[in-house]
Amino acid sequence: MDGNGRWAKKRLMPRSFGHREGVGVIDRIADDVFGRGIEYLTLFAFSTENWKRPADEVKGLLSLFERYLKKNIPKLESKGIVLKILGSEAHLSGRLSSLIAEAEARTGGGTRGTLTIGFDYGGRADIVAAVNRCVDEGRKVSEADFPDFLQTAGMPDPDIVIRTGGEKRISNFLLYQMAYSEIYFSDTLWPDFSSEELDGILADYASTDRRFGGLNGK
Ligand code: FPP
Repeated sequence: MDGNGRWAKKRLMPRSFGHREGVGVIDRIADDVFGRGIEYLTLFAFSTENWKRPADEVKGLLSLFERYLKKNIPKLESKGIVLKILGSEAHLSGRLSSLIAEAEARTGGGTRGTLTIGFDYGGRADIVAAVNRCVDEGRKVSEADFPDFLQTAGMPDPDIVIRTGGEKRISNFLLYQMAYSEIYFSDTLWPDFSSEELDGILADYASTDRRFGGLNGK
């Protein structure tokens, strides 16, 4: 969800204004995604590197996350959407940790789709923690069972990854899981990301010949 800061700056507003606007886009895009029968939506809200941002921006993002959870747990529960959080809780407040536990417990029975938010998530940290768990268990693993050790265990690999905001990089997102994702880089700043643009991406994806390294997609 890149581009919130620039969106705000263009309006001569503080970056926090862009982040607030960015949160507002989540519900609309989630409704679009689940309404089109897609079962998983994963959003990257805060990376393991985002702690390097100025303290007031970090504080603002933590408080937006807390507010998002408070407001959305009942909504997601009633819509049948499971909410999962990826990332470390080690540096989050006890209040945030209990909200995450509450969100996962209350929405866990949903059958309509899974909304996952990466917060203090890093692809490298995920892989390293998974390797260490394998070592602790004294196990050698295969490509077939390694994903069970990642935080995304039980979830399919992403078919589509969309990065808004014009930068063409992965920025430590789902590094292992994205091996064969179709990647879309959009110049649109996240607060302006529209249902129409999403539909355009889905239409393009539908006509993509995914070969997974083979010749006929098998
Ligand atoms: C990147 O844009 C965006 C982020 C680091 C934060 C994304 C977070 C939200 C949309 C709000 C948090 C939402 C939840 C649910 C916790 P940027 O700030 O780097 O923008 P820029 O590249 O224009 O500076």
